[in-house]
Amino acid sequence: MICQKRPFIYAVANQKGGVGKTTTALTLASSLSVLGQNVLLIDLDPQASLTAHLAIEPEMVENSIGSLLVSNDSDIERFIIKKYKIRDGGCIDVIPSNINLAKIESNLSASNGGGLQLKEKLKYLPDYYDYVIIDSSPALSVLLISAIAACDGIIIPVEADYLSVRGVELLIKTIQKVEQALNVKCYYKLLITMFDKRTNSSAKSLNYFKSNYKENSFDGYINVDTKFKDASFVKKPLTYYEARARGSMDYLHIAREILSVSAETLQEEE
Ligand SMILES: Nc1ncnc2c1ncn2[C@@H]1O[C@H](COP(=O)(O)OP(=O)(O)O)[C@@H](O)[C@H]1O
Ligand SMILES: [Mg+2]
Repeated sequence: MICQKRPFIYAVANQKGGVGKTTTALTLASSLSVLGQNVLLIDLDPQASLTAHLAIEPEMVENSIGSLLVSNDSDIERFIIKKYKIRDGGCIDVIPSNINLAKIESNLSASNGGGLQLKEKLKYLPDYYDYVIIDSSPALSVLLISAIAACDGIIIPVEADYLSVRGVELLIKTIQKVEQALNVKCYYKLLITMFDKRTNSSAKSLNYFKSNYKENSFDGYINVDTKFKDASFVKKPLTYYEARARGSMDYLHIAREILSVSAETLQEEE
């Protein structure tokens, strides 16, 4: 059955590796769950870092995102692992990934459903979810096209570094091309990550992105916090590991921004 109440679907994307995509997907999901939202995380990266961060062994996963994308049935629920339920709050569930996703990438190519397979599958999600967050791989690949096609909004984590400018421009052009080619519509927002207040270059790049992408960047930004590595060592989202850490507070702020955007969009639709 096709679900009635649509969740908001976000893709976290940047073709550059190491900019904080997986950390953003995970920590936003945990922040939203603390704020009472039910979140489904989708690991759309064959490297399966998100899956591993959730203490799920990628090699042991049978019902992975790869098998979902090539399956013929509409039963998406058997691919979902229930991971966290917050008392008096929401939850984090996940559709995990593993290296099989790399093998099926060629099946997803333009001639074969045009990268729309994920969008099609998500129509069958249970109406229980408020947000879906897709973590994507560091490449301008068919997997990225699938994520763009499936989502309402794209969160682009950008390292507070001047060298990030060209990569962001390329990604935005790619998003616009996918919108035209597949006749889909999504908005994007830049999220500055790894901001280091001790350096001039961080402050300069924050200013650059905020003034050049005014409407398309979050008000908040994410500071450098070594606690992210500690949390990943114990395979927990930082929000659950240390709620008062700088990084947890930064993502909570972004989660609140996301909730207020969603509320505005709902009002406009009414
Ligand atoms: N704000 C941050 N401060 C410090 N380290 C961070 C921050 N965000 C992410 N990291 C660390 O940087 C590394 C790369 O982050 P990750 O989220 O895996 O990037 P991506 O998914 O874009 O490759 C990880 O070790 C992660 O713990
Ligand atoms: Mg990643």
